Amino acid sequence: MLLRRNVSLAPYLTMRVDHVASEFVTIRSIADLDAARRHCDAPYRILGGGSNIVPVANVSGTVLHICIEGIEILADDGNAVTVRVGAGEQWHEFVEWSVDRDFGGLENLALIPGTVGAAPMQNIGAYGVEQSRCFLQLECVNMSTGERLVVDAPTCRFGYRDSVFKQEWRDVMVITSVTYMLHRQAPLVTDYADVRRAIEGCMHTPTRRDVFDAVVAIRTAKLPNPAELPNSGSFFKNPIVHTTQAAKLLSQHPTMPQWPVSDGRVKLAAAWLIDQCGWKGFRNNGVGVHTNQALVIVNAEGGTGSTVWQMAADIQRSVADAFGVELEAEVNRWD
Ligand code: EPU
Repeated sequence: MLLRRNVSLAPYLTMRVDHVASEFVTIRSIADLDAARRHCDAPYRILGGGSNIVPVANVSGTVLHICIEGIEILADDGNAVTVRVGAGEQWHEFVEWSVDRDFGGLENLALIPGTVGAAPMQNIGAYGVEQSRCFLQLECVNMSTGERLVVDAPTCRFGYRDSVFKQEWRDVMVITSVTYMLHRQAPLVTDYADVRRAIEGCMHTPTRRDVFDAVVAIRTAKLPNPAELPNSGSFFKNPIVHTTQAAKLLSQHPTMPQWPVSDGRVKLAAAWLIDQCGWKGFRNNGVGVHTNQALVIVNAEGGTGSTVWQMAADIQRSVADAFGVELEAEVNRWD
């Protein structure tokens, strides 16, 4: 276990806010987690690829940087392939690994930043697919008791960008590996308009690689590369409202994008709501709203975590005032 004190978090966070962690531990194995439990102070904060974390200020307690590696095929019956992946592997590299072998199911989730351990935590999703589509189980360690658990999908309680790991198990249960079941025959998901358009341009029967390439192209065009312009992807979740409120909003704003979801509720586009309030391209104290995607807050010039969260609060207030809709942050806040 490698323990360091007073470590700047900026290199570990795609938002690049420069706050300091009093204790910072590199975790390469379950044994490292056991050592951290014995030698390091709670509270623990779990850090993967740092693409969805913005601290407000310096961080007390211990940051556990999860760097557990390894991709292992556990079973292959000719169609279904069971693969266990270390929580510290890069998500996009794992997706590319699966597409290279024509193991299907995750190709729509190309280019999502972050690590494999973070994927079930917030049930990442894009272009009509969530990681829960292929999830089989995961292994985690309870930092309070040291107990090791194998957790199945129902216990994870996957929801829209949500799971038990974002709720009562937050910063207690550390995911060490995730097992996915991929299928060589998994149908391609091309319902999302941008993906369909890209695929329609294909001169041959579309392949998994074509979908992967289309998603990479769409994301590259719309979303800023954190290596060039620090950001945390979608900052807010798309709000889900009751049908009556959705109908009323649509009568007032006929161009408002809406999608029915299960149990008679309706999903709204946070990006559209923020865009309508005029935030696109806005800048203040180094922090701003991306010019191509209103859902992305960018740290253009060395802004602090508190500036980011202040802008998030200002955006939430303006959307609430204009539409009566509450935006919830998708990004995790470290107080
Ligand atoms: N729109 C605007 N203004 C903008 C951007 C978009 O009006 O600046 C409108 C679009 O016209 C569209 C709607 O808002 O009607 C939705 O936009 P888009 O299709 O680009 O997707 P999104 O809702 O912004 C979500 C996910 C993304 C995911 C994409 C594609 C959330 C919070 N975000 O974005 O996930 O990649 O769909 O499936 O669910 C992430 O979680 O970090 C992320 C990038």
